[in-house]
Amino acid sequence: MGGLGAAGIALSALPIVEACSPDKKAAVVGGKVRLGLIGPGSRGQLHLANLQQIVNAEVVALCDIYQPNLEKGLEMFPNAKSYTDYRALLEDKDVDGVIIATPLNEHYHMAMDAMSAGKHVLCEKAMAYTMDECLDMYRTAQSCGKVFIIGQQRLFDPKYLKALDSVRKGEYGPVVNVRNYWFRNADWRREVPSPEYERLINWRLYREYSRGLMTELACHQLQNGIFATGELPCKVMGSGNIIYWKDGREVYDNVSVIYTFPSGVNMTFESVISNKHFGMGEQILCKEGTVDLPNGRYFPEVPPKKTAIRQLLGEIEKGVFSNPAFAGTSWAPETAEDTSGISIMPEASGDGSLEMMQAFCDACISGVQPEGVLREAYYGSILSILGDEALLQRKILEFPEKYRVD
Ligand SMILES: NC(=O)c1ccc[n+]([C@@H]2O[C@H](COP(=O)([O-])OP(=O)(O)OC[C@H]3O[C@@H](n4cnc5c(N)ncnc54)[C@H](O)[C@@H]3O)[C@@H](O)[C@H]2O)c1
Repeated sequence: MGGLGAAGIALSALPIVEACSPDKKAAVVGGKVRLGLIGPGSRGQLHLANLQQIVNAEVVALCDIYQPNLEKGLEMFPNAKSYTDYRALLEDKDVDGVIIATPLNEHYHMAMDAMSAGKHVLCEKAMAYTMDECLDMYRTAQSCGKVFIIGQQRLFDPKYLKALDSVRKGEYGPVVNVRNYWFRNADWRREVPSPEYERLINWRLYREYSRGLMTELACHQLQNGIFATGELPCKVMGSGNIIYWKDGREVYDNVSVIYTFPSGVNMTFESVISNKHFGMGEQILCKEGTVDLPNGRYFPEVPPKKTAIRQLLGEIEKGVFSNPAFAGTSWAPETAEDTSGISIMPEASGDGSLEMMQAFCDACISGVQPEGVLREAYYGSILSILGDEALLQRKILEFPEKYRVD
């Protein structure tokens, strides 16, 4: 997929580094971006906590239809104006940029309305419920002259970017497989104060609002895969079912999906929410080694030898010398392999969400859209929706050409 290949984000063009040059900061009142946040629920409150640390941002408006969450937001930003209708927030001339942290089915119309109201937008992932909506948002964002970011924080996480940049440069050899999984052991339910709030609070479980594990989790991991390979998959197949949490939910609690790139390389996504043993993994398998993205580590196919002292300490820890053999120990230095991997970016911490919010604020002030991030996020969402369609239709689906963008 040539277009995407050329559009990958080079480290030197990291949005957080490049998007906010001092001479471009004058346009917004007081050198601060004035933000409105729609949906101060779980994710929205995390964004607000990050915004409390960002000096060139001010939260001036909050909107929610659920009063307890609106109040939680106001506790964090007591001077913000409060709204219960997002359209009224969009009419507020004091708002330069909008953060949309509402359920998936709300993203499209809120983001489109925000762009027509002339606001910069950070809209949570997945981008929208349908591929057509994603394409419409993408095209509108390209032409509206405002900043538009989708909440895929891995695109702003320095350790992901560094690792993926090395993969893209071929430093670990060609990519031979992309392996993603996300395992949890919990029902994904939230407590509701009374039954009429069930669908508002547990929106993730119902098809009207959500595509379940594909749009909630897979979109992050699939985005890594296309970033690593610089290609788009040409087909997808899989299987999804409700195997354990048969509690009236409509979205699968168990999915396995395979995406195949034109080269034949496969990218998998597996998720189960009734067993958490293997946790979360995003692994780029290359001919010469494996990149473990969340842990920021690289595992060469031929591991280096352990130094004698490390091997000795390891053996002592394992109790090898607690009962020495009669004729002396059999310990010999430099025989064991060091399989603990190599840290790609030792100083990295966090998951990229703070960096993403900082980049958004900086971009609102400079008016410069961070290069490439919208396209990568768009494809992450498109692939998650296409995967869900393959699961629902129980068919192998080809990537529809009409969703390819420049
Ligand atoms: N990037 C990430 O890592 C990440 C993590 C968690 C959630 N998310 C995304 O963030 C979004 C929100 O998820 P959440 O877990 O915070 O959900 P949530 O239910 O905790 O919060 C959503 C909020 O939106 C409000 N809301 C719903 N409809 C509204 C409307 N019409 N007008 C105004 N407010 C409305 C709800 O009352 C609630 O307060 C989802 O798109 C989700 O996928 C992203």
